[in-house]
Amino acid sequence: MQDIPLRKIDHVRFFVGNARQSAFFYRNAFGFDVVAYSGLETKVRHEAGYVLRQGDITFVLTSPLSHEHPESQRLLTHGDGVMDIALDVQDVRGCFAEAVKRGAKPMREPEALEDEFGVFETASIKAYGDTTHTFINRDRYRGVFAPGYKHIDPERYQTSTSRPVGLAAIDHMVANVEEGKMNEWVEFYRKILGFSQLVSFDDKDISTEYSALMSKVVQNGTGRVKFPINEPAKAKRRSQIDEYLQYYGGPGVQHIALITGDIVKTVRAMRANDVSFLRVPRTYYDTLQERVGAIKEDIDELADLGILVDKDDEGYMLQIFTKPVADRPTLFFEVIQRRGSKSFGKGNFKALFEAIEREQEIRGTL
Ligand code: FE2
Repeated sequence: MQDIPLRKIDHVRFFVGNARQSAFFYRNAFGFDVVAYSGLETKVRHEAGYVLRQGDITFVLTSPLSHEHPESQRLLTHGDGVMDIALDVQDVRGCFAEAVKRGAKPMREPEALEDEFGVFETASIKAYGDTTHTFINRDRYRGVFAPGYKHIDPERYQTSTSRPVGLAAIDHMVANVEEGKMNEWVEFYRKILGFSQLVSFDDKDISTEYSALMSKVVQNGTGRVKFPINEPAKAKRRSQIDEYLQYYGGPGVQHIALITGDIVKTVRAMRANDVSFLRVPRTYYDTLQERVGAIKEDIDELADLGILVDKDDEGYMLQIFTKPVADRPTLFFEVIQRRGSKSFGKGNFKALFEAIEREQEIRGTL
């Protein structure tokens, strides 16, 4: 199937209970700049939105301003989470028409929104669960983000200087779907968006003594947009994917992996900002040198910070996972640095999933 030409992930939209406070969290803990705002003060009556940026990463945090907001039910069902993954395309109408022709469910017809800064084009299709993909084009738009958004009032929101932690771009975004549905969603990305399947992990790769999952990774033609898709697999006890599905109330985005050029510096800064990360046992580092060979980073420092390393034919990669960022055990983040390797850290799955199981045990959800 022919690729629908996606340039990149333009932004990720989160629907949250209190966008103002979430913006404070992503700013002070993750080092994002709050660059734009929409809400009552910008004549938007039904919702508030904050645009956050660091490197090439753009997050939009949206909260309803009353129960009459058409999406307000979403908060009860899912809690805070990712609502939309927006994809930058050259031809919004063309991509939307082609996706719908191939079987995508339309969510929002193509629209050209205009204000004094130009034309902003948008159209949306349904993805897994209540998640959507919006095709957007801002080639003819010079405003701060989109119509309805204004630069943040510097007096009000930027009272201290921003403190970026070195997060530069989105590496991949992972979906959790129900048991038996992984292949259906792999097909969706292949058939509708022309993605190809990159790699697949089965329960032999990703199982511990207690729980298991399966995963396939799809990516677009340029390799810039990568979506691993997980489903739970049968095991002795409950998989972390089952836990997610229960608390999120269905399929959705499990984690967002953010690239940094210096993971030691980034994780040190995030830890100083009080971000909580998963920890593997110290013994993981006893055999690390043997497993991955010579690396540029200092192993004691990696051990102190809890950073994991994995190696393949092309090089190595370093990664670490936050704990869930809300009360529900749903969305979390990965920080990743690639030194040649394009992998997802298969060699770390076991240590990592055992760490997640220890957290599940504490939550009583294993
Ligand atoms: Fe990941």
